[in-house]
Amino acid sequence: TNETVAELIARRMTTTPDFPKPGILFRDLTALMADGEGLRRVTDALTSAMPADVDAVVGVEARGFLFAAAAAVSRAIGVYPIRKQGKLPGPLLSETYDLEYGSATIELQPDSLAPGSRVYVLDDLLATGGTLVAAVRLLERAGYVVVGVGVAIELAELGGRTALGAHPVNALLTIS
Ligand code: PRP
Ligand code: ADE
Repeated sequence: TNETVAELIARRMTTTPDFPKPGILFRDLTALMADGEGLRRVTDALTSAMPADVDAVVGVEARGFLFAAAAAVSRAIGVYPIRKQGKLPGPLLSETYDLEYGSATIELQPDSLAPGSRVYVLDDLLATGGTLVAAVRLLERAGYVVVGVGVAIELAELGGRTALGAHPVNALLTIS
């Protein structure tokens, strides 16, 4: 078919009211990513928007891991995880942040990727930007160069793109 990747995501994403909290409209790509063709199309679209000279793709636990690992394999570069608190042994850097429905602390193990590496950050969804702003801050504190950010879905009204400032954001589907 001639369906664009934005149309594919819009057709296959699930939308659940009041999850995980009252008032949140939860958008999820589990079903699309469980489909081989869906995984391939999303990965190809995210990878096409990445600059050429990237050393590693960063994913934020948990849904970000799927996108980052797939894109890294597609580009034959490394994947570098940012994890939720308490999962990685030290030495670590950490950042606490608010997201649309709560708060969290994320951690990075700087000894595992060479300082000065050029990294691209992928996640499933950009809402307030709390998660990706904290991820970028951690990466920059560790001495990496963040060359861009990519997401499958952007919830534009929540202002995540503005929160990310000068860091370029590629979104496959923007929901306003
Ligand atoms: C979700 C999503 C993004 C983040 C976006 O992750 O995967 O990482 O929220 O929200 P924000 O832009 O307001 O920060 P969540 O922390 O729910 O974790 P999960 O990946 O384990 O589902
Ligand atoms: N993360 C933050 N807000 C979200 C939403 N509305 N749906 C799915 N994941 C999210």
